[in-house]
Amino acid sequence: MAKKDFNIGMIGYGFMGRAHSNAYCKVSNFFDLELNPVLKAACARNAEPLQAFADKWGYESIETDWRKLVERDDIDAVDICVPNNLHKEIVLAAAAAGKAILCEKPLSMNAAEGEEMCQAVEAAGVANMVWYNYRRVPAVTLAKNLIESGRLGRIFHYRANFLQDWTIAEDLPQGGNALWRLDVAAAGSGVTGDLLAHCIDTAIWLNGSIADVSAMTETFVKQRMHNLTGQVEEVGIDDACTFMCHFKNGSLGLFESTRYARGHKALYTFEVNGENASIQWDLHDLHRLNYFDHGDEGVVRGWKSIHVTDHGGDHPYMDHWWVPGLQIGYEHSFVHQVADFLDAHAKGQPAAPTFRDALETQKVCDAVLASAKDRSWHNV
Ligand SMILES: NC(=O)c1ccc[n+]([C@@H]2O[C@H](COP(=O)([O-])OP(=O)(O)OC[C@H]3O[C@@H](n4cnc5c(N)ncnc54)[C@H](O)[C@@H]3O)[C@@H](O)[C@H]2O)c1
Repeated sequence: MAKKDFNIGMIGYGFMGRAHSNAYCKVSNFFDLELNPVLKAACARNAEPLQAFADKWGYESIETDWRKLVERDDIDAVDICVPNNLHKEIVLAAAAAGKAILCEKPLSMNAAEGEEMCQAVEAAGVANMVWYNYRRVPAVTLAKNLIESGRLGRIFHYRANFLQDWTIAEDLPQGGNALWRLDVAAAGSGVTGDLLAHCIDTAIWLNGSIADVSAMTETFVKQRMHNLTGQVEEVGIDDACTFMCHFKNGSLGLFESTRYARGHKALYTFEVNGENASIQWDLHDLHRLNYFDHGDEGVVRGWKSIHVTDHGGDHPYMDHWWVPGLQIGYEHSFVHQVADFLDAHAKGQPAAPTFRDALETQKVCDAVLASAKDRSWHNV
């Protein structure tokens, strides 16, 4: 297939900057695509560490001001891997410059910002996608396929958790590099926008829209030293959030997230209970999907653990990798998302989740935070 270069301008070189760069580097080796991503420019504020990052990953150039990157004629797509409070401004500028935009999640600080961003990309007619990468873990895509095939029948329950334990120490500061997630001005919210947003995106994808929510949040450590001001300041984020909801299909949802679950590092799990079958997934064992089928013969009926590595189209994405039985991991969800984006873009089609898709998650997050605040049910 004749390839066409597709020039990437990457903003941010932290956790996601690395995960996305890795995906751009690998995708053309494993997928036959018309568009070939080229690491054209990397952007962050400090030239020295940025240049080291660019050299390591093979970026052709650097920019220390994202506005310059966005204006460059040789950039086709802007990839936004910076804290949440910067997403909107960059998206508005990149849309005005006619660039395709790949934006990290959560889309925005809140739904009002998200709506503005949707309108900007839609008015400019530029391709747009949000990095809810867990959709592209093969076991999660398989869950989607099983639900869509009707195997579960009517769905009664959806429950999800995202548990971590890294902010328990009271002397952990907030704000600045690496700790911007604890600073409400940079993050917008705590575990709701950071962790539950993933759970909500997957849930909407698998089980449809959420109608209303009832939530509680807690901030266990009320004050922390702020790295940018040097002062002890109030903590404005939610450290933990639990909510229940009604889905529009009549099923009930239960979601929990915290950074205070000692022993859990990134325990994202979900379970769906249907009339005929149930499914369970666990990020710590991400290549497996647990499946219970009530239609199985009684003597052997029970939960089975599907090792999602088969070829021949049985297991999503796996034909692109090794041989059956050899699993892949976290990084591959990003490779798959890049592959799907480039394939859709070459055909002039949208790649999900678009900004408009991701705005729905943002609206649920807003309703969850509002419900926790006034202790009442909120419609989404
Ligand atoms: N999809 C996922 O699973 C996932 C995982 C982690 C983070 N995220 C999202 O990705 C985004 C970035 O998170 P991260 O974990 O990579 O953060 P990080 O702290 O590791 O990296 C942030 C980067 O932004 C850069 N930066 C900050 N201000 C900047 C500015 N004004 N101009 C240019 N660069 C600037 C920093 O130098 C750093 O390189 C966030 O929106 C986060 O929610 C998504």
